[in-house]
Amino acid sequence: MLSHISLLLLLLLPLAFGQTVCNGNAALCDRSYGNVTFLGAHDSFAFSEDALALAADQQVNITAQLDLGVRFLQAQSHLNDGVIHFCHTSCALFDGGTVLAYLQTLMAWLEANPNEIVTCLFTNPEGLSIPDVWQPVFEQSGISAVAYTPPQNPMPADAWPTLASMLSAGTRVVIFLDAGADGTDGAAVPYILPEFTMIWEPPFDSTNASFPCSVNRISGSPADHLYLLNHFLDIDILGILISDPGQAPTTNSVASIVADAQGCVPLSQRNANPTYVLLDFVNLGDGMAAVNQLNGL
Ligand SMILES: *[C@@H]1O[C@H](CO)[C@@H](O)[C@H](O)[C@H]1NC(C)=O
Ligand SMILES: *[C@@H]1O[C@H](CO)[C@@H](O)[C@H](O)[C@H]1NC(C)=O
Ligand SMILES: *[C@@H]1O[C@H](CO)[C@@H](O)[C@H](O)[C@H]1NC(C)=O
Repeated sequence: MLSHISLLLLLLLPLAFGQTVCNGNAALCDRSYGNVTFLGAHDSFAFSEDALALAADQQVNITAQLDLGVRFLQAQSHLNDGVIHFCHTSCALFDGGTVLAYLQTLMAWLEANPNEIVTCLFTNPEGLSIPDVWQPVFEQSGISAVAYTPPQNPMPADAWPTLASMLSAGTRVVIFLDAGADGTDGAAVPYILPEFTMIWEPPFDSTNASFPCSVNRISGSPADHLYLLNHFLDIDILGILISDPGQAPTTNSVASIVADAQGCVPLSQRNANPTYVLLDFVNLGDGMAAVNQLNGL
């Protein structure tokens, strides 16, 4: 009798927790967020199908990137006529539209895809105010209502909850900012997390296709940090570094991504694969296959 009840409970358990698939796979549900590798889009807003758009680092839009499996969105902010936009270097060079419109697109996708956790890493090169400029767009877009706030800040890499528990709690957007999120400008917002106390990274804008690994940007030690693999290859044209769609199928191959990841594992001090694999031109090559392999799927 008891065993029948236990069996029933066992069967009902996944229903009670509501999560049988997490980020597309049942095997990821019980994994800590810090023990999963996510596919990332560098300059996710800077997409253009125009081969002559040299400031574009992507060829497909945000929704298409998400549909391809991207779960880590990187973007660079700039103020344009008093409104926060995502722009590449400057809004005159490449204007990806308002941050609000971008977040609304993300929110619409999240509503249509309830079992997915997405991480945003936005840069704040102009030091725009967290409470006055950033918080309002997260609130207006609805993203703040599904944002994850860790119980401690910085949150150690091995202390993150499982994907299933984040999804059950409805807190499935993780937001990092490179500057200002540590509360230096007055009021910290609990769900806007500082990048460098929680994430380390090897150099970005590499021009070496073997991606030599070193600890580049960090505050603290890699031992308790998530890590971001900057796996996008630039070419140097008269001192100006630009992305190159011609090399992307090779750069974004399983062999190149896995070799880069393996080269960085010893430096992680956690014997861990990268948390995020950041690519240009995510529609080219096999980024998702590489991430699945790193996740042991
Ligand atoms: C997750 O844990 C497994 C087993 O310890 C490890 O091989 C893998 O590298 C880890 N992945 C990440 C992203 O931490
Ligand atoms: C995004 O790209 C997809 C696939 O190319 C397309 O179907 C969709 O209309 C685009 N969305 C917008 C808002 O342009
Ligand atoms: C590229 O990186 C590899 C591996 O670290 C290194 O051996 C090689 O010297 C680098 N090439 C250049 C041109 O820096």
